[in-house]
Amino acid sequence: MVRENPGSPIGEAYRKIATNIEFANIDNNIKTIMCTSSMPGEGKTTTICNIAGVLIDLGKKVLLLDMDLRKPAVHKCFKLSNRVGLTDVLINKDDFRGYLNSVYKGLDVIASGRIPSNPSEVINSKAIKELIKKMSSNYDYVLIDAPPVSVVSDPITIATYMDAVLLVVAYSETDGETARKAADSLRYINANIIGTVFNKVPVRKKSKYYYSYY
Ligand SMILES: Nc1ncnc2c1ncn2[C@@H]1O[C@H](COP(=O)(O)OP(=O)(O)OP(=O)(O)O)[C@@H](O)[C@H]1O
Ligand SMILES: [Mg+2]
Repeated sequence: MVRENPGSPIGEAYRKIATNIEFANIDNNIKTIMCTSSMPGEGKTTTICNIAGVLIDLGKKVLLLDMDLRKPAVHKCFKLSNRVGLTDVLINKDDFRGYLNSVYKGLDVIASGRIPSNPSEVINSKAIKELIKKMSSNYDYVLIDAPPVSVVSDPITIATYMDAVLLVVAYSETDGETARKAADSLRYINANIIGTVFNKVPVRKKSKYYYSYY
């Protein structure tokens, strides 16, 4: 969306998030960032794909990785196939570079690949942790799409080996208590929550969100 409508207020909102990530990373110690939420459908995939799309405008080299191995969707945002991807890299012990989809200059995407029967074990494997370490030495940012916290433990597991976490909260769908519980379970494992994306806020043309720039 941000690539097709760069000048839109929505594009501006995502650019602001990307800039804030850069401010949170002044010391350059954040390379891997996972996006999650408390509930399904809050906008995790939409958010992380669009953030990837604006970070490249800041001159960053970005890898976007689909680690929602239960309901993968990153490939759909970029009209890619997920027939092969992350799970194949792991199973075949292949070089990840053979699975990159170069969607824009500076932005590579790796789809989920085949959905495994044991996603939790894959997510918690030594192999995936080593793979992500290798990936992060080749990019400025490795962005990771994950499932929601309230449904499975995968995002909590992933957060244990991430530099940072972004929490998406759908304004009109998720109550504060549910969002707080998700944040608490991430904090419990010492996840570095660098910010919350307040999503699906109804926007009227005269609202302060619409003209967020001013
Ligand atoms: N800011 C927004 N405004 C309006 N609709 C949105 C916004 N963000 C996401 N959506 C819509 O909400 C739906 C869910 O979005 P998305 O797939 O990104 O959520 P998700 O959290 O990744 O879901 P899942 O838990 O299934 O992985 C989609 O139809 C998407 O287009
Ligand atoms: Mg999703």
